[in-house]
Amino acid sequence: MLVLGIETSCDETSAAVVRDGREILSNVILSQTVHSKYGGVVPEVASRAHLKTIIPIYNQALSEAKIALNDVELIAATMGPGLVGPLLVGLTFAKGLAYAKNIPFVPVNHIEGHIAANLLEHPQLGSHHLTLIVSGGHTMLVEVKQFGDYELLGQTHDDAAGEAFDKVAKLLGLGYPGGAELDRLAHEGDPNYVKFPRAVLKEPGYRFSYSGLKTAVAVYLRKLNQKDIKKHKADIAASFQEAAVAVLVEKTVRAAVERNITDITLSGGVAANSRLRKLLTERLGEQNRRLFYPSPELCTDNAAMIAAAGYYRYQKEGPGELIANAVPYLKLV
Ligand code: KG4
Ligand code: ZN
Repeated sequence: MLVLGIETSCDETSAAVVRDGREILSNVILSQTVHSKYGGVVPEVASRAHLKTIIPIYNQALSEAKIALNDVELIAATMGPGLVGPLLVGLTFAKGLAYAKNIPFVPVNHIEGHIAANLLEHPQLGSHHLTLIVSGGHTMLVEVKQFGDYELLGQTHDDAAGEAFDKVAKLLGLGYPGGAELDRLAHEGDPNYVKFPRAVLKEPGYRFSYSGLKTAVAVYLRKLNQKDIKKHKADIAASFQEAAVAVLVEKTVRAAVERNITDITLSGGVAANSRLRKLLTERLGEQNRRLFYPSPELCTDNAAMIAAAGYYRYQKEGPGELIANAVPYLKLV
């Protein structure tokens, strides 16, 4: 089945064609650069940028897949969570196409899309697995019993991990969003240079917290002069990253052991983090467990994961309703 996916939940305009939830024929992603001068995503600016680019991006997705709209058998679009204005652009566009061409339509939960990114790329992944979803908006540990059957084990009770990466990157004078750049810079630094707090690490359970860590870095930087910040920028980046990643790793390993789950996945933008991938691979390996993560372009928001999630949803439940407020399928948020 050929599925067209549309994703516009934040600052990526993306359209993709995926066959049977497994084979990517195209996955066009345009990251809006207009927000960097504001140091964060401006929702109204994002909505207008999506409006300008959604049709060319959709055309490119069809042409790279070498298909026509008449070949599309299912349309899937992100319906939330995300920024309301940006979401409406992609969702309305997708529903319009579906209605005009009488193609079944499935609204997709953004988080379920991130979960599907691993199913798309790793056929050997067990349908029962544990996933750590870490992005700019979410930090959650979810036990996936099978696609569509989830148990939320724990999540952040303040900032998301990606948000902390972006805020610390900004404090260090890196670009926006700064997570990937901070990751690169940290390779040159000493992760033990400053011992930043590892919030909720010792607490039982699977809660996360990132606002304290971000504040600790801000307070630390305030005590330094510009010369010292410049000299130790990589050390501070590495030390922050070490603290942020330590808690993610600890709680994920704990959940895998306590719940006796052998297959573990990382998803969301922060799943691209090199330190997180390395440490978690090592720790889970010691426990005879397997870690899977998507290739970098499937970690951050993209339409291929939405097309895949739409396909799996459709196999389970058939098409969604073509109404403005299609009811969310997933009770994760
Ligand atoms: O999943 P995503 O594209 O958007 C949301 O759903 O939020 O995730 C974006 C987040 C940003 O906070 C970005 O800084 C972060 O993922 N990110 C990273 C890395 N690459 C992207 N954070 C840490 N290390 C990376 N390599
Ligand atoms: Zn996302």
